[in-house]
Amino acid sequence: MSKKTVTITDNVSGKSVDFPIREGTHGPDVVDIKTLYGELGYFTYDPGFTSTASCRSDITFIDGDKGVLLYRGYPIDQLAEQSSFLEVSYLLMNGELPTKRELEGFEDSITRHTMVNESIKDFFGGFHYDAHPMAMLTAVVGSLSAFYHDQIDINDPESRRLCAHRILAKMPTIAAAAFKKILGEPFVYPRNELSYAGNLLRMMFARPSEDYEISPVAEKALDQLLILHADHEQNASTSTVRLAGSTGTNPFAAMAAGCAALWGPAHGGANEAVLNMLEEIGSADNVPRFIDKAKDKNDPFRLMGFGHRVYKNYDPRATIIRKTCHEVLDELGMSDDPQLELAMRLEEIALKDDYFVERKLYPNVDFYSGIIYRALGIPTEFFTVLFALGRTPGWIAQWEEMISDPEQRIGRPRQSYTGAAKRDYVAVHKR
Ligand code: CMC
Repeated sequence: MSKKTVTITDNVSGKSVDFPIREGTHGPDVVDIKTLYGELGYFTYDPGFTSTASCRSDITFIDGDKGVLLYRGYPIDQLAEQSSFLEVSYLLMNGELPTKRELEGFEDSITRHTMVNESIKDFFGGFHYDAHPMAMLTAVVGSLSAFYHDQIDINDPESRRLCAHRILAKMPTIAAAAFKKILGEPFVYPRNELSYAGNLLRMMFARPSEDYEISPVAEKALDQLLILHADHEQNASTSTVRLAGSTGTNPFAAMAAGCAALWGPAHGGANEAVLNMLEEIGSADNVPRFIDKAKDKNDPFRLMGFGHRVYKNYDPRATIIRKTCHEVLDELGMSDDPQLELAMRLEEIALKDDYFVERKLYPNVDFYSGIIYRALGIPTEFFTVLFALGRTPGWIAQWEEMISDPEQRIGRPRQSYTGAAKRDYVAVHKR
């Protein structure tokens, strides 16, 4: 730890206390205020954690002003263009890129854990045909704790590793089962010779009655989308996984909590919301009216896929995805897709508008991902499920880092109580 400190002077008591500054590799240093309450009797107040580091982490770094995203130090654009989702998963979960042998071993292990217990099928039987796939994913991922409860020792690294491989391997199988449930089609079992993305596509689109040929364009685009979503430091769902995991709960239950947090429209649900918004806008002529709505403080409408808590610049993932979006639509012969045209028009107008410029609101990862998913034949309500699949290695890596951190304690925020002062109970007949 550096010798640098920040001195806080309490103007009420006159007491001054030095608090140590902890330096990171990149990004702002942090003031270690663990002893603040003991020294000065105050809590800090920071709703939404805008200035609070909830942990130390070696996994992902974001510079929101410069639009930089690094996984274990490697820039996202290099990984998205040169790596694969399983290699990136290994990197996030183990800290270093694998050797060829390590990668083969990891791919083999993930492939061999893709099957789920047959009883899992019965869970899907309980859902109505129009259940939201995120509801099914959250419930079924959580239910895996019922199958492996006794076998998991979260204090044993080997047991955690096995559990991590199981989660990563079974997520596509569960996701595809949710997809088939919506369609009313039979579940398709995983096949070991296929890639992670190829297997997922086959489990979603194959039918017993006909062969399914995996499109290399779709396989590559899906793999890249999973890489782009693989981790994003202490976002809401990851923080939820850490918080739930800090109680020592079963890791499948912690992942289910992550799925639940991801579902909301301000987080992983935004890609679904973008397409709904594009449909609502309808045509380029309506763009100015919707831009006005987004700027109107009395109107709850927001431009979905725009703005980010951390990025105050173009989201680097959006830059990659924008290019892929054009390539995929070109290759699939859909380059004159009206929704892509509408999205580009919206982006163009918003990027010139003072309201968006002043607030540094740029397109985020979700602005283009939905257009790609739709081109691949994936229904809107399924987009967040794919986000969850991509985010799984990040959740696992962050959970593992939290569990093995010697400073780890149960996550338990404090509060500033502003309710009624202490008062006496009044019997109902006297009220
Ligand atoms: N459309 C219109 N105005 C916006 C938008 C938007 N999309 N986003 C932020 N603003 C305005 C907001 O009204 C506020 O204005 P003012 O200062 O006048 O009150 C200002 O910009 C700051 O916004 P904020 O809500 O304080 O910012 P935040 O950091 O709390 O919210 C956000 C970040 C992502 C929730 C928000 O930008 C938003 O709701 N965007 C749309 C939903 C979306 O695309 N979410 C996906 C995020 S990326 C995927 C992921 O990592 O989960």
